[in-house]
Amino acid sequence: MNAAAPALKPRWPLRLARRAVSPALFDFWATRVNPLWTLEQPLARLVSRTAASRDAVTLVLRPNSHWKGMRAGQHVSIGVTIGGRRLIRSYSPTPLDDGTLAITVKAITGGVVSQHLAHEARIGDVVTLDPAFGDMTITADHESLLLLAAGSGITPMRALLRDLAARNMPVVVDLYYWARQRDEFCFVDELMELAAAHPRLHVHFLATRDGTAADPRIDAVSFEGIGPLDQRRVLACGPGGFVEAARARLDGQVASFAAEAFSLPATDASGDAGEVEVHLARSGRTLMLPRNLSVLAGLEAQGVRPPSGCRMGICNTCSCERQSGTTRHLLTGDLTSEPSSPVRLCVNAPGTDLILDL
Ligand SMILES: Cc1cc2nc3c(=O)[nH]c(=O)nc-3n(C[C@H](O)[C@H](O)[C@H](O)COP(=O)(O)OP(=O)(O)OC[C@H]3O[C@@H](n4cnc5c(N)ncnc54)[C@H](O)[C@@H]3O)c2cc1C
Ligand code: FES
Repeated sequence: MNAAAPALKPRWPLRLARRAVSPALFDFWATRVNPLWTLEQPLARLVSRTAASRDAVTLVLRPNSHWKGMRAGQHVSIGVTIGGRRLIRSYSPTPLDDGTLAITVKAITGGVVSQHLAHEARIGDVVTLDPAFGDMTITADHESLLLLAAGSGITPMRALLRDLAARNMPVVVDLYYWARQRDEFCFVDELMELAAAHPRLHVHFLATRDGTAADPRIDAVSFEGIGPLDQRRVLACGPGGFVEAARARLDGQVASFAAEAFSLPATDASGDAGEVEVHLARSGRTLMLPRNLSVLAGLEAQGVRPPSGCRMGICNTCSCERQSGTTRHLLTGDLTSEPSSPVRLCVNAPGTDLILDL
């Protein structure tokens, strides 16, 4: 599937190696010979970087042969080593014809990984890839589409539009794309060229802070010009607040609504103020954590760093056993207090005192 970078082929020495040593030990030594040689782990090398907008960069990654490919619209957990620590974040790549993957990363103020990728990652750097997953994909070509993207939420839409263009745009598609200022839009020329080449595609750019449009926010846009909404499949992607607003505006009026939030809503007004006591059973530590932050964010703020990945409740990396107490899901508001059950620390806030198997 991919014109991938060389990796070790599964010949008999590798089969032997699989039995003799752990993959981690094998990878430790093999990557000293060639940074992309691993027994099983998909890795990718950064082969080019270009500015995508004022605050975003597109990085092209060439995976090794352990990479199993992806569908347009899916996302991938990418592991980056910064200051000796491997940090994992999700990105929504565009698979390119030569087997490489293009990720476009918006530099978030104060963001650890996005700032590193946008400003410090160098050609030749190697990152880890996990298998692609996600439901921002197009399953049936008979549906007309309404794509809603805010900020870096354009990335899965770009992959979907290129995929549809390669199939001669079999459906009507309207893309609404929000950014604060004009120079924050990515792929402007590419999107205009696609729309010029495919009359079924209509692209609408909405800048929320350039002072020209009336009120271009999602809750004020009428969508009148695009015909009946009840026949549209909607895919929405962007920061948590945008996705919530899009859902409130359109869910129930359209044929189907699927969304992917790239971040949690900025403030959690639904959570009670104050702190609770969180006991970490394995390490024996007891900490006071705020009730309006995810458990993960609260722990990290006090120097405790449990394993984490997507930070959006998707990958399950941060899951640990809640031995007692109540947690509150930050996206749904659901309270859960079943003892000895797993809890995803990145999207749950402490509701009461907690005991965690950490
Ligand atoms: C499924 C999925 C796909 C994603 N695809 C992309 C992509 O293609 N391109 C891309 O640039 N990002 C994408 N993201 C976001 C990305 O995973 C990181 O969250 C982002 O790069 C910030 O990471 P960081 O380490 O710099 O910030 P952190 O250090 O983890 O966080 C710093 C602060 O920024 C906030 N924050 C984190 N992400 C965002 C955001 N997107 N918008 C606003 N505030 C944020 C956090 O809540 C926190 O307060 C995706 C996220 C998900 C869940
Ligand atoms: S870090 Fe992925 S589910 Fe929490």
